[in-house]
Amino acid sequence: MQISYNLKSNSERRQTAFEPKDNVGFGELRTDHMFLMDFRDGQWINPRIVPYAPFEVAPGAIALHYGQSVFEGAKAFRHKDGEIYTFRLDKNAERLNRSADILCMQGVPEAMQRAGIEALIDIDRLWFPMQDDACLYIRPFIFATEDRLSVSPSEQYTFCVILSPSGPYYKAGFNQAIRLLISERFHRAVSGGTGASKASGNYAASLKAGKVAAEYGAAQVLYLDATNQQIEEVGAMNHFHILKDGTVIIPTFTDTILKSITSESILELGRLLGCEVRQETVMLEKFIQDIESGEIIEAGGFGTAAVVAPVGSYIFEDRRVLTVGDGSVGEHTKRIYKVLTDIQKGYIQGPKDWLVKVARKENSACAA
Ligand code: PLP
Ligand code: COI
Repeated sequence: MQISYNLKSNSERRQTAFEPKDNVGFGELRTDHMFLMDFRDGQWINPRIVPYAPFEVAPGAIALHYGQSVFEGAKAFRHKDGEIYTFRLDKNAERLNRSADILCMQGVPEAMQRAGIEALIDIDRLWFPMQDDACLYIRPFIFATEDRLSVSPSEQYTFCVILSPSGPYYKAGFNQAIRLLISERFHRAVSGGTGASKASGNYAASLKAGKVAAEYGAAQVLYLDATNQQIEEVGAMNHFHILKDGTVIIPTFTDTILKSITSESILELGRLLGCEVRQETVMLEKFIQDIESGEIIEAGGFGTAAVVAPVGSYIFEDRRVLTVGDGSVGEHTKRIYKVLTDIQKGYIQGPKDWLVKVARKENSACAA
């Protein structure tokens, strides 16, 4: 793939390492450039890196009306050698195409996705924020651009990648356990629907639930299945709980749960974590009983943005509160967080190919 470059002038773009005065939050900042590519007449054309700026979209574009839009969330980390490494980008590329397929959209060949993302990171590598627990958050997305009001799959798409120098997703970071609202009213997904995809519409549909969760003093909703019997996942992360013998349990992936790359990583790391990690159907009633009896001692969420988010308590719609252990961040959760983030930062060796160094290309000479 031959990428064309239309870069900002040296005076307009970052020239020195990014040392934020205040710690950066999640997803607020952008880098200087973005990657774009269009799907026309059956092929992806015009891969390009251009300054980050608004672009033109037809008012009748199908994405705006019928929601044909999918996205990914991945991360890159700066290691001690000064180089930037993407984390499991191959899995994100594969999942973006799975999401696209669920929404009848055109996928992007995985190698093209990776090449575009790596070229963009290379150009904007100075934007990596020099602070603890920082990353370059990678947001690739595909949206339908055909200007047509009949409801059928678009024949034109844009693939775009933007980068956000980011810190933790939850403002309190890892050290403060969050509260989740267990809702019988809101549902994220039904079998046969789009729950296993990162369809933009899934997130639009979670906003009202998120607002209600905030009214309960909760960070997010823990969604149940449509019959309110099983625990599924949280709006932006998978759910997990830990038994008193240290076993980590993640609800089995179904077509109503997003197959989290973080969860998959924790499942693969099982042995390195020194505990059993397994998936099973999690029944709400048993889950409550096991917290009350002390059989479940810790809980939380796994996700790229959230990393490992400890959950200290749940609140129900009748305002009953269920506290996990003593409500603070437990030792097992701390260990899982540390092993995962140490691998991501290159402090310890993880499985082969999880981290891929972003090559320095000739035309990135101006990026130090
Ligand atoms: N579940 C949902 C609904 C999500 O939005 C996310 C975030 O991407 C996850 C789970 C976690 O997935 P991953 O670990 O691949 O980021
Ligand atoms: C991610 O974890 O990367 C996500 O995409 C979640 C997002 C909704 C913040």
